[in-house]
Amino acid sequence: MKIGIVGLGAIGSLWAAKCHQIHHDVIGFTRSKTLAPLVIQLDQFQPFTLTINDYQALQDCQLLLVTVKSTQVTEAIEPLHAFLNSSTPIVFLHNGMGAVDALDSKWHQYPLLLATTTQAAFKPTQGQVNHTGLGQTFIGPSPLSSPFKKSDINDLIIALNTILPSVEWRNDIHTALWNKLAINSVINPLTAIHQCRNGKLANDQFKKQISILIKEISQVLNAENIAISHQSVVDNVYRVIESTAQNFSSMHQDIAHHRTTEIDFITGYLIRTAQKHGLNTPHHQALMEKIKAIS
Ligand code: PAF
Repeated sequence: MKIGIVGLGAIGSLWAAKCHQIHHDVIGFTRSKTLAPLVIQLDQFQPFTLTINDYQALQDCQLLLVTVKSTQVTEAIEPLHAFLNSSTPIVFLHNGMGAVDALDSKWHQYPLLLATTTQAAFKPTQGQVNHTGLGQTFIGPSPLSSPFKKSDINDLIIALNTILPSVEWRNDIHTALWNKLAINSVINPLTAIHQCRNGKLANDQFKKQISILIKEISQVLNAENIAISHQSVVDNVYRVIESTAQNFSSMHQDIAHHRTTEIDFITGYLIRTAQKHGLNTPHHQALMEKIKAIS
């Protein structure tokens, strides 16, 4: 397959390397409009050279995988529109929700797919990427998408599952996205505010606050008719705190490196959804204000 990958952060670089390993024709797209190829090394494998920003090649791409942060989605894909065939499926893979809803309506003619992953990757240097944790990727339809053929999507899921397993189709991707958003809305702001690794949130000092944050999330999930129980949110949050105990969350890293955070697409999305149902989420609101103050 010819596959375009937009954004070469840790997850984009991981997918690019995995595509290359099984001989797909992969092209990277970056913010810098450089045409100089990038050399990427995944773990201890042989480094490989990745073609960058070849816009003409976009028209033959059978898939565009967009791995930039929620805050960069619009800016990253806008320049590609003039070159991209409207039958090319676009898969969006990022933390948070609402970025695809914010796209201009000209994108609605494409097969738009939303994804969430528990694969973990880390870039120790510009040209290196480490696959630090095996996980799952769920993909499903965006409600804004043009209709697509089920058989095309089946083929795509099979291909993606061969590149970086496991990849599974979810008709109700919304539930998987909310599941991830619930986890991110607790771990990311707290670790950024307290400047700590994820694992520290298991300490007693955070118990009460996490419990209140989860109560507010559960009310929103109920109002939205999302089938995730209060206990599942508790279990998922603490499972991720434990399994990523040594990690600094993405929001912690964004604050530390003076980058824009995804707070508007994580906590902001939660608060906007709560407001739609006339619900208050004062503890999430307080976290969002603190993050904005230190950003
Ligand atoms: O954003 C992140 O850092 C990650 O999604 C997670 C799961 C919180 C682990 O650090």
